Amino acid sequence: MLDTGLGTIQEAYAQGWALAAFSTYGLETTMGVVRAAEAAGAPIILQAGSSTFAHAGRAALAALALHAAEAASVRVGVHLDHSRDLEEIRWCAESGYSSVMVDGSGLPFEENIALTREAVAIGAANGVWVEGELGSVPGDEDRSVVTEVGQMTDPARAREFVDRTGVSALAVAVGNVHGMASEPQPLALELLTHIRDAVGVPLVLHGASGLPDDELRAVLERGVAKVNINTELRRALLQAFHDLDEEVLAKADLARALADGVVAVQQVAHQKIVLLSRPALQPPDHE
Ligand code: 13P
Repeated sequence: MLDTGLGTIQEAYAQGWALAAFSTYGLETTMGVVRAAEAAGAPIILQAGSSTFAHAGRAALAALALHAAEAASVRVGVHLDHSRDLEEIRWCAESGYSSVMVDGSGLPFEENIALTREAVAIGAANGVWVEGELGSVPGDEDRSVVTEVGQMTDPARAREFVDRTGVSALAVAVGNVHGMASEPQPLALELLTHIRDAVGVPLVLHGASGLPDDELRAVLERGVAKVNINTELRRALLQAFHDLDEEVLAKADLARALADGVVAVQQVAHQKIVLLSRPALQPPDHE
């Protein structure tokens, strides 16, 4: 079912688990992550940002995500990822999205606040919660490029940002990058604890692909209630296409190839959902 309102992310925040938020590019990625959520019996978020809309078309991708969410047997939020475009934010908010992210992180502090406040007003008028971002999470959102850690989130600034904008969730920079890091560094977990204590709203970790399982578990104790995953799903789908057997290629069996891709996405998504979920869903070695 389509999940609206703050209930699920607040529940995750209060209980120390996180919603896995998966980037989707079309039918196969959407099917894979929704099936994974249904198999795990856990809520998730489907998300796409401005750059993905440029690939698939905003109306088509939104209709697909909203339909998949409504048809799912578990709670599925539909979220606009990384947008600086207030027209796009308004369109999604008015089209039935659960939540939107306004990304003013590349702007000076006061401009980020001004843009984010406008998005929060649009969200409030439509019953849609808003995620803002402070600090810099570098890297390309659609392809994994060599990248270095960006400007980390300052806890005092984060508190001021949340107070003055009214965002319901805050994306933070604590050493995370989009895509695979060229030289992976441990996340700044102590800083994350300080940010959690300062802001009092659920935190969002972007760039979760490639992070070790124990690091992902560690962020759950530090206020992170939404974790964004993209690159690992893209890799799984591309690897499935790469591994297609000769018979599938000889017969040009596209349906079979796409089905293999869905299974590959589903497997990665399921592992992440279980890792981030409440203890009850985790395998015994995580308890
Ligand atoms: P990754 O591609 O590193 O998983 O990051 C996804 C993300 O943060 C989407 O906003």
